Amino acid sequence: MTLDLAPLPSLPDSVYPQSLLADNPAGPIVLGIESSCDETGVALVRVGPERDILLADVTASSMEEHSRYGGIIPEIASRAQLDELVPTLRAALRQAQLDLGQVDAIAVTAGPGLIGSLTVGAAAAKALALALQLPLYGVNHVIGHICVDQLVNGPLPQPALGLIVSGGHTSLLRINDIACDVVELGSTLDDAAGEAFDKVGRLLGLPYPGGPFVDKLAREGNSQAIKFPRGLANPKYAQTHAYDFSFSGLKTAVARYVETVSDNNQTLNVADVAASFAAAVADVLTAKAIAACQRENISTLVIGGGFSANSQLRELAAERAAAAGVTLRIPPLRFCTDNGAMIAALGAALYRAGIAPSRPDFPVTSTLPLSKMLV
Ligand code: KG4
Ligand code: ZN
Repeated sequence: MTLDLAPLPSLPDSVYPQSLLADNPAGPIVLGIESSCDETGVALVRVGPERDILLADVTASSMEEHSRYGGIIPEIASRAQLDELVPTLRAALRQAQLDLGQVDAIAVTAGPGLIGSLTVGAAAAKALALALQLPLYGVNHVIGHICVDQLVNGPLPQPALGLIVSGGHTSLLRINDIACDVVELGSTLDDAAGEAFDKVGRLLGLPYPGGPFVDKLAREGNSQAIKFPRGLANPKYAQTHAYDFSFSGLKTAVARYVETVSDNNQTLNVADVAASFAAAVADVLTAKAIAACQRENISTLVIGGGFSANSQLRELAAERAAAAGVTLRIPPLRFCTDNGAMIAALGAALYRAGIAPSRPDFPVTSTLPLSKMLV
């Protein structure tokens, strides 16, 4: 197990306000627990008068154990989480210089995710809530990926346009109110963006998970070298699939290209393949997200999820948002992949909005509609 105890990164004072903490400002504390996949994340957020403030964020990961199998092994993930949860909780409390008695509410990922992993986090959160007599929110992991941005950039304007890109999701959201009113405008019809990167990574012989490796390799290649297809980007889909994505045709095109080069005994320029593939994915995601802002008449685009760490996406989104006069918000890299801060942030948003907590016997679930913030 690897426990990320790195000191919190230096961000503006308003994000990690040691000075504010020293003044002991009033404001309820929300404990967030994330355990939907291979990570165990615990964070503490203070619900501040104007914005929510991150006090601690600690993540443990079992990815090293999965990478040799080329995929997440659910049994290994949940066993690791059973080991990691208490040390991660202790480390987060230490980082925030708080004890459990100072916590006012608990949020935990209820779904979507791996059932065994979700069960470990939910069981721990239920036990803590029962022992401490605290309200408990079983929240939506995917919405947490968007909500974490509020810890960095302050409250989201209403409405905002959300692009969620992860290993399991690629969707456009109309976020009228992150605590209670999110509408899914469209989603991928087949693979998610991260999934497509992981599959192409495997095809190119890169380690698991392929996403970050393809990203790195793509930076060394020529993104114009190969013309790969852009799924559902043709104007003929403008009415029927304006908000939908498809990456399986692109993935197949990459596989065919690699096969043809090998059949002809030519040398494969893997960096050019990675760069051309990454450019196709970033092109479709950003074009559709900006077009959605225009169609919905929304001036702020927020991108979240593990794939929002992707450098090709971040660069092109910045360029196109600026050209279209859209304000772009993407959380810093450390908040893109799964973490406890995203769950504490969503718990804080629900607490702030006065939303009733979940029932004490709430279930965990492998699927959860994106319009449902809590179970
Ligand atoms: O949100 P996340 O941590 O887990 C899910 O909820 O799915 O997203 C993980 C996904 C994986 O597919 C991973 O390969 C991808 O995000 N990913 C990236 C990058 N960093 C993570 N894909 C491309 N470029 C990256 N830099
Ligand atoms: Zn995630």
